[in-house]
Amino acid sequence: MVTTRFITEGAHSFLPQDLFIAEKESINNAYNQLVTKQGAGNDFLGWLSLPEEISTDDISKINCVASRLQAQSEVVVVIGIGGSYLGARAVIEALQSHFRMLEANADCPLVLFAGNNISEDYLYDLQKVLDKKEYSLIVISKSGTTTEPAIAFRIFKEHCEKKYGKEGAKKRIVAITDRARGALKKSADSEGYDTFVIPDDVGGRYSVLTPVGLLPIAVAGYDIQLLIKGARDMREALLTQTHIDNNPAMQYALIRNYLYNNGKRVEMMVTYEPRLYYFIEWYKQLFGESEGKENKGIFPAGATFSTDLHSLGQYIQEGERLLFETVISVENANHTLPIPFDEQNIDGLNYLQQKKIHEINLTAEIGTRIAHIDGGVPNLRIAIPNISEVTLGELIYFFEFSCALGGYLLNINPFNQPGVEAYKRNMFKLLGKPE
Ligand code: PA5
Repeated sequence: MVTTRFITEGAHSFLPQDLFIAEKESINNAYNQLVTKQGAGNDFLGWLSLPEEISTDDISKINCVASRLQAQSEVVVVIGIGGSYLGARAVIEALQSHFRMLEANADCPLVLFAGNNISEDYLYDLQKVLDKKEYSLIVISKSGTTTEPAIAFRIFKEHCEKKYGKEGAKKRIVAITDRARGALKKSADSEGYDTFVIPDDVGGRYSVLTPVGLLPIAVAGYDIQLLIKGARDMREALLTQTHIDNNPAMQYALIRNYLYNNGKRVEMMVTYEPRLYYFIEWYKQLFGESEGKENKGIFPAGATFSTDLHSLGQYIQEGERLLFETVISVENANHTLPIPFDEQNIDGLNYLQQKKIHEINLTAEIGTRIAHIDGGVPNLRIAIPNISEVTLGELIYFFEFSCALGGYLLNINPFNQPGVEAYKRNMFKLLGKPE
């Protein structure tokens, strides 16, 4: 049973009443293309069955390597970019304390990320940290040739070998890459690193439920079986409910597509929980790289409220009317903290004293929703009971499935990314990379 609910009320006044009936054929076509694997990019549909296919052996191997890395490390650096890091970061940051960085003596290593930029200062700063910490490296690249992680890996591999010796470093480096191709695969084989395979039919941004996401998440101390359970529950719901009235991914994909075709060119994915900041970064990558092609596609933006209500809020309320909002609404906080009573009440806050802080946050959400709908911003909600491995697993599969449907509704291939090569070509030419 899935716990996630998709709620469309806040968009009703912007949609024709008979949308699901009028567009039945197009959404059914998109759905059939996906589930019968007849659509564009159908050699990249391995993610569809990942939650079912992952075996107990696969999970044990991941947990076993994770335990070793945990035992020997205060810090584990995950080197990767795009789909090769954002899924892990999204889940870890959603589950860990906001201030995990400052927690000494935590049970599990702190997971840090590198190879997702080319900043010399970032790499220098991280190297300084690693001088003083016991650490391990997880290097992730499907192609095995991406420049950003390759530079970071070269630096930290050398650092690791200097610090622990060649043999010691071998036990501290894990590679996740293609079965057969690429420089990383070659180097992992020749050095004898522990290696996990990214399946051929799973693209980077759909790979969070492979070792790409699962190993770093397990290292950070989270239960990957629960994450997979959430994804499996959502998969079952989306594959058994073939009618749009009962299928939230079909509804979401179709409504997004209608809004896009009617001038709402930007989707603002909103959270009221700062822990979901990187989940929204993952969403931006998933949808941006999947849908934005052939001069089409919704621009995926993100915001954290109420923080951004004090900055972007003005634009959303009164700026150009090109936005719709999708709110990941978290119904319960995982912790409680009372608001103290104050005799003097100089700040006038005693009226809130009986309320939970989360209730105030939810009230901000309702007030904002009403204001934004009044201001011409359609509002969709994806509600989860709380933030947990299970609900994150549900959300991951829900967004992946909806994104694929959205691509088919746009009549593009949601599984390639030809556009990201353009900057690389220029950069390599300017750097004088040998052919
Ligand atoms: O979704 C994608 O395919 C991309 O974002 C890739 O994950 C990203 O470019 C990294 O590629 P690689 O894993 O080959 O280093």
